[in-house]
Amino acid sequence: MCGIVGYIGESKAKGLVIDGLKRLEYRGYDSAGIAICIDGKIEIKKEKGKIENLEKIIGDPAFDGNVAIGHTRWATHGVPSATNAHPHRSMSGKIAVVHNGIIENYEEIREELKGSGVKFLSETDTEVIAQLIGSLYDGDLLVAVRKAVARFRGAYAIGVVASDEPDRIVAVRKDAPLIVGLGKDGNFISSDVPAILKQTRDVYFINNDETVLLTKDEVKIFDDDGNPVTHQVQHIDWDVNSAEKGGYDHFMIKEINEQPKGIYDTLHQRLQDDGSIKLDGISLTKEDIENISKIYIVACGTAYHAGIVGKYIIEKIVKIPVEVDIASEFRYRDSFVDEHTLFIAISQSGETLDTLEALREAKRKGARVLSVVNVVGSSVARESDDVFYTWAGPEIAVASTKAYTTQLVCMYLIALYMASHKGNIDKAYYDKIVNGLKEIPDKLSRLLEKQADIGKIAKKYYGWDKIFFVGRGQDVGVSYEGALKLKEISYINAYAIAAGELKHGTIALMDDHTLVIALATQDGLFEKMISNIEEITAREAHVMGLAKESNTKIGKFVEDEIYIPDCIDELTPLLSVVPLQIFAYYVAKERGCDIDKPKNLAKSVTVE
Ligand code: F6R
Repeated sequence: MCGIVGYIGESKAKGLVIDGLKRLEYRGYDSAGIAICIDGKIEIKKEKGKIENLEKIIGDPAFDGNVAIGHTRWATHGVPSATNAHPHRSMSGKIAVVHNGIIENYEEIREELKGSGVKFLSETDTEVIAQLIGSLYDGDLLVAVRKAVARFRGAYAIGVVASDEPDRIVAVRKDAPLIVGLGKDGNFISSDVPAILKQTRDVYFINNDETVLLTKDEVKIFDDDGNPVTHQVQHIDWDVNSAEKGGYDHFMIKEINEQPKGIYDTLHQRLQDDGSIKLDGISLTKEDIENISKIYIVACGTAYHAGIVGKYIIEKIVKIPVEVDIASEFRYRDSFVDEHTLFIAISQSGETLDTLEALREAKRKGARVLSVVNVVGSSVARESDDVFYTWAGPEIAVASTKAYTTQLVCMYLIALYMASHKGNIDKAYYDKIVNGLKEIPDKLSRLLEKQADIGKIAKKYYGWDKIFFVGRGQDVGVSYEGALKLKEISYINAYAIAAGELKHGTIALMDDHTLVIALATQDGLFEKMISNIEEITAREAHVMGLAKESNTKIGKFVEDEIYIPDCIDELTPLLSVVPLQIFAYYVAKERGCDIDKPKNLAKSVTVE
C-alpha cells in the first residue's frame, strides 16, 4: 500500500528515489510520481501505472536535483490517474507532499479551504494536506507541517518539501510506517527498509506522532509537543540479496524456496541444546502463564490462517481455550477480554491497521499483548508487551508464504514454552514435538524437490474456474490458506471448507467441472477424509489428494496425489501448505498473471 521515498544530500536524488520506489513495488500501487527541488522551484512528474511509465517522462537529465520525494500510490480517494497520483502541491506551487494513509476528516478541511479561495485539482485527501500546509506556511516548513498535522484525523506518513527551503525535507507519521535512513552523503525517508538498503543499513524507526526534519547533514526528531527526542540508530543486517530475486522468476517462488531456511532460523537459538525453549523478547513468567485463562489470536488474511492452526496447537499442547478472530471484526464486538487474557497478534508487516487497532482495543481492556511479527521495529512490535520475531527475512511478494510457515513455528514454540512453564506437558510428548520440529527444515527441502511434479498438475488444472480445498482438524486452516493463495495470485474462484461440513450444503456445488483439493495429512483423521473424498467423487468432482508418504492408499481414491514427508500429526501444517503454495504459483504462471503484484492487492494494508 502506498510507498514513500525521499532523499536529500550531495548526490543526484532522482535515481536514488526511483530505485527506492522500485524496491517498494511489492507493496502494491497503481500510479507513481516524483517531486524534485530544481533552481528554487518544485518540479513534479507523475504517471498512471507502473514506475516504468513514470521513467519514460523523467529521462531529461535537467530534471534532477539534490532533494526529491517520490511515491507509489494505491488508490483510496479517487481513481488511479496521473492527476490523483502523488506528489500533490499547494496552490502557490511552493509545497509538495507525498502521503501514505487516509485523512479521515479531509472533506471538512477541503470545504474550509475552498471557502477561503483554494482551488483543488484532484479528488484526493493528500491534496488537502498540501493545500493546508500551503495555507499555513509562513517561511518555516516544520512549523507549518506541525500546525497542519494537529488538524488531521486518520492514519498517515507524510513527506513534504518547500521550494523556499530547498535544504530540508519534513516528515511525520501516525499509524503508517516511516523510517529514516542515514546515508554516507545524505539522508532518506522511506516506508520500508528494502527501499534504502542499497544506500544504508543505519535507520531510525520513527514513532507515532513524531516529526522529522532532514537536511543533508543531519536528522532531527521531535515528539508530539515539538520537543527534540533521540533515537537509537538501528543497524539492519539483512543480506541485500534477500531483498532481490536472486535468479528466480518471481519473489514468490524464491520465498517459497526460502522456507527451510526461514523455519531453521526461527527455531535456531530458541531451541536450546537441552531441549528447553528460550523465547527472546518474551518475559512471560510461570506466574503470568498461570494467570492466563483465555487466549485470543487476532490477525488478518494469511496471518489469521496461521492463527487458526495456532488454536489447534495451543489448545492441544497448553490446554487453555483459544479464540481466533479476524482483526477487523474483533474490535467491533464485545469480546471477553480482561487481565486474564493473553492476546496474540500475528502480523508479517507489523503495520496492518486492523491488527494494530485490535491490539490497542485488547490493551485497553487489560490483556497482556504478545505479538508474532516479521518486520523488526514495526508498529505492532512496538506496541506489544512481548514480541516474538519470525526470522523469515524480508518478504517481498504480495502473497505471503515464508512468513506464514515461520508464524506457524512460533505457534509451536509459544505453546511448548507455555506448557513447560505451566508444568502440564509430559516430557516424552514435549521431546517428540521438539525433535519433530528440528527435522522440519530437511523434510521441507525434500518436499521442495517435487516442484516440477506439482507444476505438471498445475498445468492440467490451470484453466478450471471452480476449485475447493477441504480438510479436517489442522488441515482446515491449511485449506483456507491454500484457497487464499490460489485466489489472490491466479484470480480463480477458490473456496475452502471443513470436509465434514460439505454435506451440509456446499456439496450441492460438486460436479464434473469441479476440482477438490483434499488434505488428508493427519493419520488420526485419514479414514474420515477418505470417506469425504468418496462423497465428493460420487458427485463426479475431480480430486487431488494430499497425504503423508506412508498413506499411499489415498492414490486409490483420487486422480492426482502429492505426498509430504512423514511426520507426527501435530506438525503436518508446516509441510502441507507448501505444495499448495507451489500449486497456486504454477497455476498463476500458466494463466500469465502478475504473480508478485496481484491486481487490487497491497502488501502492507495500512487502512481499515
Ligand atoms: C495474503 C496476505 C495477506 C496478509 C494480511 C495480513 O497472502 O499476504 O492476507 O496476510 O494482509 O498482513 P500482515 O501479516 O502484514 O499483518
